[in-house]
Formats: sequence, structure tokens, C-alpha cells
Amino acid sequence: MKLFTPLIILALAIVIIALSCQNDSPEQEDLALEAAREFFRVTDVTVEDSKRMYLHYCSVCHGATGKGDGFNAYNLDPKPRDFTDSTFLNKADSAYVVKVITDGGRAVDLSAMMPPYGRTLTTTEIEKLAEYVLFLSRDSTN
Ligand code: HEC
Repeated sequence: MKLFTPLIILALAIVIIALSCQNDSPEQEDLALEAAREFFRVTDVTVEDSKRMYLHYCSVCHGATGKGDGFNAYNLDPKPRDFTDSTFLNKADSAYVVKVITDGGRAVDLSAMMPPYGRTLTTTEIEKLAEYVLFLSRDSTN
């Protein structure tokens, strides 16, 4: 029984730490999605799905908002591109971004650390992700 109280305190501490780590307020989140919806201009495109996929597969290196500051980025040389840098948009169109995501960095003479997703994701998923990447680079408030 003596073990019981410290365990409860520990569990509470974990819950509190987990809650305090959620730094994006719900309103900010909504605003970002609203902007994305406007960009896609098609209401039945699931921006939420693209964002979820991006956060799941890409943000570890490219960062949650595409600035190339994911927690794995310090490991990489060259660093992942900052998608919000305007020079990225000058060379990137959706065909290019789809190719990089499908075939990986090596296919476009970039770092092989950029993995190919052609076997993991469907063509539609990759197209949605490419739109999301281009959206991030257009809207740096996201
Ligand atoms: C293991 C780390 C890592 C992951 C995961 C990753 N990337 Fe990359 N990515 C890189 C690196 C490194 C490069 C090459 C350097 C650069 O960005 O110029 C790159 C390059 C790119 C480029 C081309 C940038 C340019 O300048 O032409 C695109 C587009 C891209 N990644 C999209 C994605 C998407 C979308 C995902 C998720 C499906 C993803 N990446 C997942 C590391 C990663």
C-alpha cells in the first residue's frame, strides 16, 4: 500500500507534463487548416488527411511547419529544405515534388537521406502530400 501514493503522484506528473507539451493552441490549429482549405479551394479535399500524413511521415526531418527543423534534422547533411523559403517555390512545382516523394532524393540528385515513398503511399496520397508541401511553402503563417 505504501507504494500506491507515489505511483499516483507519478501518474499525475506524467499527465501534467504531457498536457503542457501541447504548445499549439486549438485556435491556431483551426486558423492554419482554414488557410489550407482556402488554398486547396475544393471543400472535399481532405486537408486534414494531408496534414496528418505530413506530420506522420515528413515532419520528423522537415519540421511541423516545413522549415526544415524537425527533431531529426540535426543529424542530416545537407539539411532538409526549408519549404517556406521562397527560393524553394521557384524551382518546385507539383510534378517535381511528387517525383521527389515517390522516388526519393537520389532521383533528383539530392541527398539519399530523403527516402522514397512510392512503395509506402498511394499515388493519391503522394499527390495530396505534394499539395500540402506547396501549401506550406506558400503560406508561412501555417
Ligand atoms: C529522414 C529525413 C527525411 C524525411 C523523413 C523526409 N525527408 Fe524530404 N528531404 C530530406 C533531405 C535530407 C532532403 C534533401 C535536402 C534538401 O531538402 O534539399 C529532402 C528533400 C525533400 C524535397 C526536395 C526539396 C528540394 O529542395 O528540392 C521534398 C519536396 C521533400 N523532401 C519532401 C518530403 C516529404 C513530403 C516527406 C514525407 C513524405 C519527406 N520529405 C520526408 C529528408 C527527409
